Amino acid sequence: MKEQYPSYKIKDLLKLTDYGKIVNLKGWVRSKRGNKQLAFIAMNDGSVIHNIQVVAELEKFDEETIKLISTGACLSVNGSLVESPGQGQQVEIQAINIEVYGTADAAIYPLQKKGHTLEFLREIAHLRPRTNTFSAVFRIRHAMSFAIHKFFNDRGFFYLHTPLITGSDAEGAGALFQVTTLDMEKPPRKEDGSIDYAQDFFGKRTSLTVSGQLEGELGAMALGLIYTFGPTFRAENSYTPRHLAEFWMIEPEMAFYDITDNMNLAEDMLKYLITYALEHCIDDLEFLQKMYDNELISRLNFVLANPFERLAYTEAVEILMASGKKFEYPVGWGTDLQSEHERYLVENHFKKPVILTDYPKEIKAFYMKQNPDGKTVRAMDVLFPKIGEIIGGSQREEKYDLLLNRIREMGISEKEMEWYLDTRKFGTAPHSGFGLGFERLMLFITGMANIRDVIPFPRTPQNAEF
Ligand code: 4AD
Ligand code: MG
Repeated sequence: MKEQYPSYKIKDLLKLTDYGKIVNLKGWVRSKRGNKQLAFIAMNDGSVIHNIQVVAELEKFDEETIKLISTGACLSVNGSLVESPGQGQQVEIQAINIEVYGTADAAIYPLQKKGHTLEFLREIAHLRPRTNTFSAVFRIRHAMSFAIHKFFNDRGFFYLHTPLITGSDAEGAGALFQVTTLDMEKPPRKEDGSIDYAQDFFGKRTSLTVSGQLEGELGAMALGLIYTFGPTFRAENSYTPRHLAEFWMIEPEMAFYDITDNMNLAEDMLKYLITYALEHCIDDLEFLQKMYDNELISRLNFVLANPFERLAYTEAVEILMASGKKFEYPVGWGTDLQSEHERYLVENHFKKPVILTDYPKEIKAFYMKQNPDGKTVRAMDVLFPKIGEIIGGSQREEKYDLLLNRIREMGISEKEMEWYLDTRKFGTAPHSGFGLGFERLMLFITGMANIRDVIPFPRTPQNAEF
């Protein structure tokens, strides 16, 4: 079929009102129904959640073509734009000619029927983007990525690319995935029997990064305000609906910010992203609300309307201990908070997002700024309804001696951290930063319950298909 008519995305077609205009559209069949005279073909091209209806008068088409048009097939349609007599849509297309790009045999196409469970769809991750649910989620995912760049760019931050392969494992944020080209069957060995990493690709032991923060700090000490936004990898055996082995993280790092500036930025950013979603993704949000979570949009608005509660870890532990609630993991000063504790504070006690600060130093990373009490550090975790921790961050220890002491206390190799310590040796500055888990944000924005359903190809223990 010659391309003789202007081609439109369905998103734009649905807004046209110049009836009689002949247009071209390309997309996939969501359903076909009809009678003896007419076929009604619902088409979607991914540009928007809504389908457009193509009406074909059977007498104008050969039977063979019409037979090939089934759910999942890909078509190019020329047709004229007409006002739709049906409810719920302004326009439809009266087909003039139809080219079938690709068929989808109804007997074997897995998405032939509607209403599959999310669990089933996870098993066909190569096809699930074609469902309404996943196309909505992935459009929102795009919008959130774009909004993150816009938020930081508008505020003078620079996007810094930190390495994915790293030779330092000091962050201690999670177990590492090793990167090697050594023959795993027969690795070269030193005299003492240990593996000789000098012969590995990089001449040392390397792994996939768990965070871009430490390198991000190097950038902040030159550019002032930076952020990273990239994949991070943690080999934790966590089978929870909130953990992935490969997830995306946004990590801003700001020279001259203290913990309060850091909290303000985190709260502003989250509210900006929620606002952006409400303004740009409302069709998709309404669809997800209808299908999965009838409080979704009111929850988003609620978070916007209220300042986040800010309090110290010590106070939070007191609240939890006084709550009388029986937690699966008992809580006491010094214990790391579990998601059940975080959610109790957010959902039952304060009934709004919470920022907890000043955690015991033993349960936090070595780089966090030490408080004068000698027991706590200037950490901040942002806790959200239904999610628990969505952001983790801190003011950083900028004093060379204090940082070095902590590195030694924690048994981290001083030599390996020389490059990092140099930031405190040369022109050190007070600074802060945090990490937002992008898929945790996506869980909150979409109302989806499982983190595997907000990333196109989830990597979790025992699962790395495609
Ligand atoms: O709290 P985390 O471990 O903090 C850091 O990595 C710091 N270096 C961040 C910084 O200060 N620049 O991780 C940050 C966030 C968590 O709050 C959570 O939202 C997300 O990353 N996250 C995960 N998301 C999905 N799957 C996992 N396994 C995650 N682990 C952490
Ligand atoms: Mg954390």
